[in-house]
Amino acid sequence: MRPRLLKVKSLPAAPEFPALPPGAAWSGWPESLAEEIARATVEAYRGSPDAVIWRELQDAAACAAWLRGHRDHLIAAGTGVVRREGETLAAVVTVLDPHMPEVAEILSIAVNPEARGLRLGDALIRISEWSAWQAGIRMVKLLVDARNERLASWYQRLGYVTVDEKWIRVQADSLPRRVVRAVRRRLLGK
Ligand SMILES: CC(C)(COP(=O)(O)OP(=O)(O)OC[C@H]1O[C@@H](n2cnc3c(N)ncnc32)[C@H](O)[C@@H]1OP(=O)(O)O)[C@@H](O)C(=O)NCCC(=O)NCCS
Repeated sequence: MRPRLLKVKSLPAAPEFPALPPGAAWSGWPESLAEEIARATVEAYRGSPDAVIWRELQDAAACAAWLRGHRDHLIAAGTGVVRREGETLAAVVTVLDPHMPEVAEILSIAVNPEARGLRLGDALIRISEWSAWQAGIRMVKLLVDARNERLASWYQRLGYVTVDEKWIRVQADSLPRRVVRAVRRRLLGK
């Protein structure tokens, strides 16, 4: 089991839809995108610790099936791909947790290894935030491998704060209930 950080951000104002690299364009979910999102996601997560935990990050068919099976939980405007000249550069999946409808979750964020470093990761986060706001949601959460300090500090710079010291080392297999309770209590006062 890998330690995970739960990070949360309150959206202070309506996020702008981000600028993309020249020639790149965003396509948001219809279901016909499931396989393309899945392929891009599996490709980007290859070799990452997350792909060891979740089968959907290792296997594009399993990932596409998961997306189709959870279509009702997706925030459609925040789930899709960035393409340039017919090539998929990146994909992001934004979901609604039915147990916590006040908070959107960035479930996966995937940039093709050859397209990294162009700030596409920044753009995907902002697309997710934008889509959450459009859906009437004012808070976004995500999980990050606690050992990936570069990634964790990037999220921190984007405004994502770790929910609580004692939740810093949340274990992947015990997430939903504890996360729901922690976020509600700590951030929503419920
Ligand atoms: C994380 C990821 C989406 C970033 O994509 P990107 O387009 O390169 O991102 P950006 O150019 O916007 O850079 C954002 C941050 O990504 C990380 N990053 C970018 N290139 C990286 C590289 N070659 N190695 C490790 N981290 C890298 C850094 O934290 C960077 O922030 P910094 O440059 O301020 O330190 C991409 O590396 C990826 O798809 N990784 C595999 C999937 C994954 O781990 N997703 C996140 C799970 S929480």
